Parts: sequence; C-alpha cells; structure tokens
Amino acid sequence: MCGIIGINSNKQVTASIINSLKKLEYRGYDSAGLATLSNGSINEIKTEGRVDKLEKSLLSQNIEGSIGIGHVRWATHGIPNSLNAHPHSSNNVSVVHNGIIENSTILKKFLIGKGHVFKSQTDTEVIVHLITEHLKTDSYVDAITKTLKSLHGSFALGILFKDEPDLIVGARRGSPLAVGYGPSENYLGSDSYALKSMTNKITYLNDGEFCFIKKDYVEFYNEEGIKINKKVLELSTDEKNYDKGEFKHFMAKEIEEQPLTVKNGIKEYIDSHNNDINIHNFPWKIEEISSITLIGCGTAYHSCLMAKYWFEELTSMEVNIDIASEFRYRKNRFKKDNLYVFVSQSGETADTYAALDLCNKNEMKTCAVVNVIESSIARDSKFILPIHCGTEIGVASTKAFLGQILILYIFALKIGVMKKDLDIKKFSEKLVELKKLPELIKETLLIDNKVQTIAGTFNEAKGSMYLGRGYSYPIALEGALKLKELSYIHAEGYPAGEMKHGPLALIEEGMPVVVLAPRDSYYKKTISNMQEVIARGAKVLLITNKSEDEVTSENIWETIEVESTNEDLLPFLLTIPLQKLAYYSALKKGFDIDKPRNLAKSVTVE
Ligand code: G6P
Repeated sequence: MCGIIGINSNKQVTASIINSLKKLEYRGYDSAGLATLSNGSINEIKTEGRVDKLEKSLLSQNIEGSIGIGHVRWATHGIPNSLNAHPHSSNNVSVVHNGIIENSTILKKFLIGKGHVFKSQTDTEVIVHLITEHLKTDSYVDAITKTLKSLHGSFALGILFKDEPDLIVGARRGSPLAVGYGPSENYLGSDSYALKSMTNKITYLNDGEFCFIKKDYVEFYNEEGIKINKKVLELSTDEKNYDKGEFKHFMAKEIEEQPLTVKNGIKEYIDSHNNDINIHNFPWKIEEISSITLIGCGTAYHSCLMAKYWFEELTSMEVNIDIASEFRYRKNRFKKDNLYVFVSQSGETADTYAALDLCNKNEMKTCAVVNVIESSIARDSKFILPIHCGTEIGVASTKAFLGQILILYIFALKIGVMKKDLDIKKFSEKLVELKKLPELIKETLLIDNKVQTIAGTFNEAKGSMYLGRGYSYPIALEGALKLKELSYIHAEGYPAGEMKHGPLALIEEGMPVVVLAPRDSYYKKTISNMQEVIARGAKVLLITNKSEDEVTSENIWETIEVESTNEDLLPFLLTIPLQKLAYYSALKKGFDIDKPRNLAKSVTVE
C-alpha cells in the first residue's frame, strides 16, 4: 500500500509528480502529498483524501522545483489526515514511505532524547529524524546505510535533502521500488506503471538495496553501502489499457473486457494446431511433483480454492490451499515433491511474497500465477504462469479473477494429461469446450437490465448470503466479497450444505440470498438447500444456466440464467452476474466503485 514517486530533472516537476500520483492511487487514497526543493529549502504540501484535492491546493500555492518526491497513502500508523500525510520533513530531510516500521516506538524515544521534535503520529517520521541525526556526522551513503540497518519492518523510501539539490535516495526492504531513466532526468516509483508515461527503461531494487538518483545517472548500493551494478530492463510501452474509454468506471470496462482477456489467455496457452497446452520451460519433471499447494490473498485465494476442485478432479495429486497471511507463520511441513503456487494479480502482495520467500528459503519448487510479470513475486518465483489479462485498475478484482482461474484450469488440464490422470480424448474434448468460453462470457454479459433491478433490493437489505456447492462454492465466496467490497453490504459466502449447521439462524423474512445452482452434479442437492432458505423467508435470487428443463422449485424471487457449458467451465459464467450485481448495487448507492473505502489494490503491508 501507499505509492511513491520521485523525479530529479532540470525541468519543473510538480505537474509530473501529480500525474504519477494519480496513477499510483490504486495503492492508497487516504491522503496525498509532495515535496520539492527550491531556493535551498524544502517545500511541502499535503492534503487528506485524493490527489485531485492536492492538485487543487497546488493552484493556490506556489510550489516549484526541478526535484521532488510525492506520496499517496493507505493509512497504517495514524489516522488519515493531512498532518499524517507524507512527505514528512525536518529542516534538512524529507521522506515518503510505503510499509511499516515495527520498532518506531523505541526509535522515537531515542530520538526525542536527542532533542528531535515529532509532528505526526506516523512511524515514518522516525526515518526523517534518524537520517537527520546521522547526517550530523556521517556522509550521505553512511547515514543511509546506518539508518536502514536500524529500521525493523518493511519499507520503500524516497528521500530528499535540503543541501543536495541533485539527489533523491530510494531504498527498499519488503515493499517494491523501481528506478526509471529519462533524458537528463531520472525517477523513482513504487512500480513501473507510475513511471510508464515518462520512461520504459526500468531497474528494480532488490531487498536491502538503495540508490542515489542524480539527474544524469543513478548509483546503486547494497545494504553494506557498497556500490553495485544493476541491469536496466526495457518494458513494453503499451498504454491503451489505462483508459476508461466509453465506460463510467474502470470496473465496468474490466467486466466487459473479459471475453477478450479470456480469449487472449487461451491464445497464449492453447496450441490449437496440435490440440495441446503450451507450458514452456517447466523446470521440473512431472514425476518430481506429487502434490500442490496454492497460496493467495483475497480474490486470489478464491482462485486457489477454485483450482483445488479442478486439480482434484483432473489429476491424482493431493491439493492444499492456504491464505498467505496464515501460511507464512504456520509450522509448515515443506515437501520437496510439492509444487507451491502463488496466485497474485499484482505480484506485490506482502503476505503472498513472504510465503513465497519462505518457500524459496526452504528450497521448494515455486511457481507464480501473476498478472504483472515484472512484479516481485514473478521475479522471485522459479516458474511463472502469466495471466495476460492486461492492467486491472478497479480495486475490486474482476477480469484478473477470471484470468487467474483460467490459467489455473489450463494448468490443471496440462498436469492431468502429463501425469496420465486425464485421458487424451477427454483432454481434447475439454479444450474444444474451453475455446468456446469467450463467446459464452460475451453472451452472459448481456444480463444487465435484470441485474440492475435486482441490485435495488440488495441495497435495502441488512445483509445477504451467497450459497453454492462444489464448483460453485468458491464463486459464492467471490460474489459475496465483491458485494462487501463495493457496496459495503454485509455478505457471506457459504457452502450450501453448511447452512443448517448455523448460518440458517440468520435467515429472516425478505433477506436476499443468492443461490448458485447450475445444472451440474450438485444441482439437486443445492435446490434442496435453496428450499430450506425459502421456507424461512429468504428472497432467493437463483443463478443457474440455461436448460430445456424448467426449475421445478416454487417461490423463487428472481432467476438469472447464464449460458450453458460443461461442468468445469460453469464457474466462469456464474461469476459474471455476481460482478454486475456488486457493480450496480454500488452504482445505485453512489459509492466510489473503482476505489472502495478503506481498500487498496496492491497491499504491500502485512
Ligand atoms: C487486495 C485487493 C484484492 C486482491 C487482494 C490480493 O486486498 O483489494 O482485490 O484480491 O489484495 O491481491 P493480489 O494482487 O495478490 O492478487
């Protein structure tokens, strides 16, 4: 969380900082701020809330400078007001920070003892005063090295110095940070996305490293303060994905893009000519893998749960799934013949990265299913399966979820056939069906009017439930998460068969309940569970697939029918109405759909 930008140029930088901060808002939008150097002093401006507000405040204040740092915040220490907004500055040093300093209380005590005065409630301010303290006696390199060594926790930092008009320092431990190169100017950013409008030449800092960004060159150092060389990567310059186009929100655009993104994913992995799946350079022999653990957070965790059903059905492997924040602290039994798969849209989620790091340290087989191929999780995994769905801006994940489950399904098919658990005939049939999926998603997307009307009823409810069995259960969880994230209505996903073991007590007259009951092998059982909630007064929205057989059950409030396909692929189609339901519910409430309250897209703190 939190986004960082730094620009060292020979032109004015304020407008470019604002531009980059707007791009970084997906990382946090509690407050925004920037600092520049001009006439030998640090000028700081900060506002609570969005970058737009900061931009407006700039109109009334003359903040100039050809060197500066900026920040968007997702609050951890201290409430989200302008006092706690970054940058934080002493007379000599200004700092922007992403992450958490775990020993800030002890350091603060020590610094107060030395006469430093603190203005905010943030952990970040200790960094400002530590550097200021060290600079009394040390060189810049030594002051940074010593400061970083005394910090516990995770951070990405951008630092500006009153007495160094040609220096921005960047430092990384745990939180991502990139350096960009331009003509007579250089940059620092939380990710390449923030820098893309200025450059496609990037270097990523590794944990423990820091850099000195000058206008004409950049120096890199390791944690001992020794100079090192780093590679410059060239990224693609394609920006068209970042435009909302004709849509009101990125989320609406991203939902509608799904036929195309699924098509792209299929094109990348399916070899239609040979009726096979291309997974090139898989670094292990299939006999070396007898079990799989899938790990993620939030929506990505739901993808892992979805994949568990497919891997169990299509392969003979034992399949485990885990929430990254739990996995990283449990006493895991690491197994050499286990494949550890890390699912993450951003590839930067701190908990998922920590789980990966733990597996790498234990020399396990690690694989990343990511959207951002330049991300930390992608770079540090031994094998990558990119989801190829393009940049996702909406904080609540939509197309990346379908992208993740698509690639995990394809991976399960491939492993099934490699292990000879899935016979070639069935495998080929499944590929034929899979290739029809983009068209079926397109058809299913045409359900807008009905969903819009239904959304109104959800908005009047205290809470709702989403029920599903088998392949529909992970989708029920994901649907409930979408409603919570966007419309702030309490929603819980449950396995339909679990209702009678407690949650049924919550059902009361008029409570909207979404029942996912496609015509699959669980259909009859789910319909029985649906009756149980109807009998207790629930208003059931049944989501099923088109079929010649009518649903025989009575007293269903509303039914939405998605297109039909084989049992494996129905989850893709069931997801669509749930995404739209959450979208229209938030739209009717007038909430900020692309930036729901208290959330951020890339969660780089624990
Ligand atoms: C945040 C986002 C969620 C996302 C989760 C995991 O909580 O708001 O939409 O599912 O992080 O993110 P990742 O980038 O690892 O998939």
